Amino acid sequence: MTELAPAGARAPFVAELEAHNLHPLWDRYQRITPIAPRAKDEPFHWRWRDIEPFLHRSVGEVSINDIERRALIMAHPAFVDDTTTTSTLLAAFTVLEPGDRARPHRHTGAAIRFATRAHGAATIVNGRRCEMRDGDLILTPPMCWHGHINESDHRIIWFDAANMPLIRAVDAHFFEPGDPRNNAFWQVDAGEEDLWTEAGLVAQGATSGTTSSPKYRYPGTATRSMLAHAPAGADGARTIRYVNPTTGGAVMPTLDCYAMRLTKNQPTRPKRATYNMICLVVAGAGRSTIGEKRFTWSQHDVFTIPHWTWAEHQGIDGDADLFVVSDKSAFERLDLVREELQ
Ligand SMILES: [Fe+2]
Repeated sequence: MTELAPAGARAPFVAELEAHNLHPLWDRYQRITPIAPRAKDEPFHWRWRDIEPFLHRSVGEVSINDIERRALIMAHPAFVDDTTTTSTLLAAFTVLEPGDRARPHRHTGAAIRFATRAHGAATIVNGRRCEMRDGDLILTPPMCWHGHINESDHRIIWFDAANMPLIRAVDAHFFEPGDPRNNAFWQVDAGEEDLWTEAGLVAQGATSGTTSSPKYRYPGTATRSMLAHAPAGADGARTIRYVNPTTGGAVMPTLDCYAMRLTKNQPTRPKRATYNMICLVVAGAGRSTIGEKRFTWSQHDVFTIPHWTWAEHQGIDGDADLFVVSDKSAFERLDLVREELQ
């Protein structure tokens, strides 16, 4: 039997392998095949009271005519210059002055807007005008042309989320600018969006040619009504999923949205999942324990639940509502969803 050299004495061999672009698996397997996911980012909390003044200031700093979008992205410090909120998702707030038009474009990243203070704004998605009222969710699925307009007499602010970090990680992102002088882009009505306003009804012949939802606007009135009637789930929260009405699945193949109502002083059972989540506080106030962090939050705050991190939540003054955006549907397609409840 051959006598093996001690591990330290094998270092010159490893160095020689590396010089030939070869790595010994026995030396690297723990890095290549981790026992469990380990998020690089800690849970993080952005308070609305800290963000809001910067949004108002940004109006004086840049004109919408000079920039693609006037949005402030919540950038997690763990990712340094990568400009991302979790490893796969980013979240932002956009501000539009009366008369502002955020010019059309499209991209392979999937995105959503959630109307926080957006009453009077509209998003045009693939030739359909989607009004934005409190609590409305507007989808801009991959490669749908979209632009935004504020036709009200007041400043508009909404919450954005998108999965560019995920798409960039596999280097599959494409972006096409639209023509900012094309006035016809804005001269549209709701169009086929009217075919998707009533739950449980699908018009024969309605266009539904992609894997994303053909319904782009999910009114906040419907969400609030459904939350009031939804039963508590296994974790104790009332949770509803925004779905593609033609499939019953996620609204987009790579972006998945939920609304959650938390009860006062009743913590949810701790849960962890392989996908990432970003939570926007829609209404009320509450408390979350996420990993080692404990956050007390209120309306329009944003916090993250990085993948495979235990999280529990509760309302503190009364019921509290969260809007949750995640990459769960992308993980479903990869057959990588794993969830645990304590
Ligand atoms: Fe966009």
